[in-house]
Amino acid sequence: MVVSSGAAEWGDGTRCVHAGHEPPRTGAPLRPGPVFAAPYHLAGAEDMPAVPGAVEYGRSGNPSWTALEESIGSLDGGQCVLFPSGMAAISALLRAVPRPGDTVVLPADGYYGTRNFAAADLARTGVTVREVPARGPWSDEVLAGACLVLLETPANPGLDVCDIAALSAMARRVGALVAVDNTTATPLGQRPLELGADVVVASDTKALTGHSDLLLGHVSTADPELADRLRAGRGRDGSLPGPFEAWLAHRSLSTLDLRLARQAENAAALCAALEGHPLVTNLRWPGLPGDPSHAVARAQMRRFGGVFRFELPDASCVSQLVRRSSLLAEATSFGGVHSTVDRRAQWGDAVAPGFVRFSAGCEDSDDLVRDVVAALDGVARD
Ligand SMILES: Cc1ncc(COP(=O)(O)O)c(C=O)c1O
Repeated sequence: MVVSSGAAEWGDGTRCVHAGHEPPRTGAPLRPGPVFAAPYHLAGAEDMPAVPGAVEYGRSGNPSWTALEESIGSLDGGQCVLFPSGMAAISALLRAVPRPGDTVVLPADGYYGTRNFAAADLARTGVTVREVPARGPWSDEVLAGACLVLLETPANPGLDVCDIAALSAMARRVGALVAVDNTTATPLGQRPLELGADVVVASDTKALTGHSDLLLGHVSTADPELADRLRAGRGRDGSLPGPFEAWLAHRSLSTLDLRLARQAENAAALCAALEGHPLVTNLRWPGLPGDPSHAVARAQMRRFGGVFRFELPDASCVSQLVRRSSLLAEATSFGGVHSTVDRRAQWGDAVAPGFVRFSAGCEDSDDLVRDVVAALDGVARD
């Protein structure tokens, strides 16, 4: 299949629409459907190498994956290997890199699923896990002896940002690979490989696909050997994305630029409206000029995204906020077209009971601000 690489000189919107898609052909649909295949027809083993890109079985390859991998890889600036979820991508990386006796550094304040995997599965393979929060402290001593440093920035749910370029240089000094969980930012918000990281991992369940209707993840790297190792491991252990999910994700990626622009606009408008509200404390969004992470975020992020966080006095205030709103859903995910609220303490994150991770959706800013402020004012009156 001939696919467009989404030439680097094109802007974000153009690449999102075109990357990984075949050029238009007379009489063919602009968006051909997904390819569903377990075995592929084999004319005979000796003919296989003569058919470019031919695969023999659905565990080794699928044109719907290839097209999406081409597209995400061109946005990340590396080779992309798709996985059926963000956790499948992260666990594949954590299985592929450290050996028994090695040490990995993981985010202490990032997505809890990564720490759960490390505690339940990595520890018994003899790998030592060191946890460091995004804000540090970082030093050669903290990284000493590590073979892999996984950063998550902005970290979910606290939204602290760490300096990818500086930490990549530090990791290189001690001989460690740097991977960045880029779920919150997406490649349109931040390009870790350009900033010096070796690997990107992401849950594409979130903003990248953005419609709250599928699970998917990926690893991107400019190291062809690591990409081959991950692809081979995926074929061996069968941690495979579904072709329909891959196709749906590719379709959704076309509007990523538009969705992120509206989500960031809504996050900015909501932060402006909530800052100073009597019930709201500890409001954080990397895009806020007064945010402790703003300087680093402004230097390395291309846009700030739609996720912000704040605290209400207690858990019941969060429930009341959602009940009083006509637009908010309570959901434990983010980056979708719907605005959602997640009270993170219920999932065991070390945050206050009234801590809210707010994911601004694609509704009209005026509607959203009016609805959320009216709901909060109602909670304050109760
Ligand atoms: C930052 C981050 N990384 C990874 C994951 C895991 O992704 P998935 O749910 O697609 O397995 C999540 C899920 O919330 C996440 O927020």
